[in-house]
Amino acid sequence: MARRRGDKEDGGLDRHMGLLKLVQILSFLVVFVAGIIMGLATSSHISQYFTSQARLFFTNNIAATKIPGGNCTILRPCKTVDCLSMEAFLHPKNLTHSMTDKQLFWRASLMPTKEEYPFDRLPKVAFMFLTRGPLPMLPLWERFFRGHEKYFSIYIHTPPEYVLNVSMDSPFYRRQIPSQDVEWGTVSLVDAEKRLLANALLDFSNERFVLLSESCIPIYNFPIVYKYLIHSEYSFVESYDDPSRYGRGRYNRKMLPDIKLFQWRKGSQWFEIQRALAVHIVSDTKYYAIFKKYCKPACYPDEHYIPTYLNMFHGPLNSNRTVTWVDWSLGGPHPATYRGINVTESFIQSIRSNGTECSYNSEMTSVCYLFARKFHPSALEPLLNLTSTVMEF
Ligand SMILES: *[C@@H]1O[C@H](CO)[C@@H](O)[C@H](O)[C@H]1NC(C)=O
Ligand SMILES: *[C@@H]1O[C@H](CO)[C@@H](O)[C@H](O)[C@H]1NC(C)=O
Ligand SMILES: *[C@@H]1O[C@H](CO)[C@@H](O)[C@H](O)[C@H]1NC(C)=O
Ligand SMILES: *[C@@H]1O[C@H](CO)[C@@H](O)[C@H](O)[C@H]1NC(C)=O
Ligand SMILES: *[C@@H]1O[C@H](CO)[C@@H](O)[C@H](O)[C@H]1NC(C)=O
Ligand SMILES: *[C@@H]1O[C@H](CO)[C@@H](O)[C@H](O)[C@H]1NC(C)=O
Ligand SMILES: *[C@@H]1O[C@H](CO)[C@@H](O)[C@H](O)[C@H]1NC(C)=O
Repeated sequence: MARRRGDKEDGGLDRHMGLLKLVQILSFLVVFVAGIIMGLATSSHISQYFTSQARLFFTNNIAATKIPGGNCTILRPCKTVDCLSMEAFLHPKNLTHSMTDKQLFWRASLMPTKEEYPFDRLPKVAFMFLTRGPLPMLPLWERFFRGHEKYFSIYIHTPPEYVLNVSMDSPFYRRQIPSQDVEWGTVSLVDAEKRLLANALLDFSNERFVLLSESCIPIYNFPIVYKYLIHSEYSFVESYDDPSRYGRGRYNRKMLPDIKLFQWRKGSQWFEIQRALAVHIVSDTKYYAIFKKYCKPACYPDEHYIPTYLNMFHGPLNSNRTVTWVDWSLGGPHPATYRGINVTESFIQSIRSNGTECSYNSEMTSVCYLFARKFHPSALEPLLNLTSTVMEF
């Protein structure tokens, strides 16, 4: 004879009801006793502890703290570090982060609406090195930067596994940004440029952004370079209309209707831009996507994307010329590389000024270039010999 299921459950329910009553009574007791203890506590020194904790809680920032050994994350006041300090927000010291490009570009695109800064902002120049690894001209750059630490920041993009070995007192120490593989001639080169810009934008004091390679050298001293860039009303991005097959010939009609042939521009990838343009470039998705899709060899995104984009939307902020000298006179797909034997005083002097004038703001100047490329590692020694006599640093 099987018992009906309901019987058992009903009997069980009765027992449960009894237990529940007992539990209720017990919990009333617990609450009552706890109340007495709390009442006593408020009049004793314990209360001081509680209130001071509360004050800490409200005056400091709250951080998520991981309890060692456990796996819960609780909210706790920061006692030793100011987690949301202005200093860390404005001038991140540590370039290591785990943001994806998408997250990084979004953060870098944030622009204050308020015009005044709540701190003394000393505008800095961000020197962004896009390299294949080693920096053969490092000693020259270190000499160039020496003594001007307040006025610049350095960012280095290398192959992802590469570790740049520099001494702790070098301005290049710990300045590698989280990098990814770059395939020369593809859009990944533009990605690396945007990654450098975005990392540099996180420092709110960076005002001008220069892109350099490992074969670039400075040809003027730091104070001249700094003054030239900081006081320029315009950016220095080469942007010109080249009617040949190396210019307009690389345009793809599939870019219509967003990009028209007459808007298409060419220019050296080694740019120098002001903060506002850097923000626009890391923020653009639409035109970047068009280049990614339709500008493939023999179209090179690094030579067309930024020159075309600026021409379309921000032309009036651009000088359309570059501040990085290069020698194309030999012809061919690559510019001339200068070795140790080619470096002479008169050669460097001729790059600094060869009699040709350039426009700077509303004036003319004989200083057209601040940097030069391309220099072979063997050029380092003779260049170091010329710094005090020719380059004045
Ligand atoms: C909690 O931590 C223990 C050991 O530290 C681990 O075995 C367990 O999987 C963790 N649980 C969760 C939900 O993470
Ligand atoms: C920078 O951050 C990384 C990862 O967050 C950390 O391992 C490293 O110790 C930090 N370096 C400094 C100098 O704070
Ligand atoms: C880094 O450079 C120093 C000095 O030039 C050298 O002694 C050291 O072995 C180098 N370290 C690596 C990992 O290459
Ligand atoms: C550079 O070219 C843009 C058009 O893209 C133009 O608006 C601007 O005036 C030019 N800049 C100078 C300094 O001539
Ligand atoms: C460097 O000097 C060598 C030897 O004089 C010469 O053959 C070469 O063309 C020079 N290179 C450049 C880029 O001028
Ligand atoms: C000076 O340099 C500019 C730009 O490189 C070039 O166009 C010009 O021909 C040079 N002038 C002389 C006199 O060498
Ligand atoms: C550097 O200058 C010194 C002295 O002026 C000279 O002896 C040496 O040969 C020069 N080195 C190079 C590589 O030009």
